[in-house]
Amino acid sequence: MASTEARGQLVELGPADLPEALALSLSAAWNQNEADWRTMLALGRGWGMRAAGADGRQTLAASTLVIPYGEAFAWVSMVLVLPAFRRRGYASLLLRHALAALRAQGRAAVLDATPAGYAVYLQEGFAPHWGFRRHRREAARGGETSPAGRAGAGTAAPGASRPLAESDWPGVLALDCPAFGADREALLRSLAQRLPQAARVVERDGRIAGFVLGRDGREAAQLGPLLADDPAVASNLLADALAAIEGPVCLDLAERHDALLPLLQSHGFVFQRPFTRMVLGAPTPPGDPSRIVLVAGPELG
Ligand SMILES: CC(C)(COP(=O)(O)OP(=O)(O)OC[C@H]1O[C@@H](n2cnc3c(N)ncnc32)[C@H](O)[C@@H]1OP(=O)(O)O)[C@@H](O)C(=O)NCCC(=O)NCCS
Repeated sequence: MASTEARGQLVELGPADLPEALALSLSAAWNQNEADWRTMLALGRGWGMRAAGADGRQTLAASTLVIPYGEAFAWVSMVLVLPAFRRRGYASLLLRHALAALRAQGRAAVLDATPAGYAVYLQEGFAPHWGFRRHRREAARGGETSPAGRAGAGTAAPGASRPLAESDWPGVLALDCPAFGADREALLRSLAQRLPQAARVVERDGRIAGFVLGRDGREAAQLGPLLADDPAVASNLLADALAAIEGPVCLDLAERHDALLPLLQSHGFVFQRPFTRMVLGAPTPPGDPSRIVLVAGPELG
């Protein structure tokens, strides 16, 4: 259902809005492609502001999505306003609309703020908790060792990663749920199909001690989530997944795992921008983030 606001119309987003939604994320140079928007709208709900541009044509000027995870919380995502429509209150208006929908369901709201979004969210009562940083490498460097090369022909080194198998899912979810704070199997399974060569696990003592997934993107592949019991498992997953991707890669490294920065730098990664995890309606973010090395991305959690 649509409602008319002072200088725009609030609309619910659907599949027909995908081209304009993609134009919105492109305007901010974000990495989402159509598959990302499609996944997020399938898992959650989105709203937009339609308004007349300088040429008089109605355009999708702003967006906000919510992705429910379990019963207790939802991710607030894709808070975006076309540059020509900023500082008209669109982001705040859509955010309040989304937050009212979440309040009605008794859910807390969690999000990962860019520095630009931080100001908007603080005003709405969100509290900051922990940080992560986006890093990007442009292309694989020659001489990076492949997973097979590091493991040796036909042997698996201790703690070595291997491709994710269907039978690994219970173990992956057993690691992910308590860390993330909710079951996000549908999301993880969809990511595993987007970049299968990056979907890897480390198995130790009969349980999954770490996993990594990736996805294709508009400008670069994105690695994440990556969860691991310890730094050695994290390094193996990271190095092995990176060896399987040739082109540009971005990833979001939790600050508490900055010990992995030298490894990233050796692969040619450079820092791009910071994010802050923020929460409204609960004292802390859900889950236990200690094993979250790479988040899935600010738009997914
Ligand atoms: C961040 C963004 C969504 C804000 O959209 P917006 O519609 O311009 O925001 P609003 O007009 O609702 O702003 C509400 C208040 O937030 C604060 N605010 C918004 N943008 C700000 C900025 N760039 N610097 C400082 N304060 C800002 C102001 O207090 C503003 O109120 P005011 O205009 O009355 O002073 C928009 O700048 C954008 O799309 N940026 C690029 C994408 C991005 O980073 N999105 C956030 C993802 S977490």
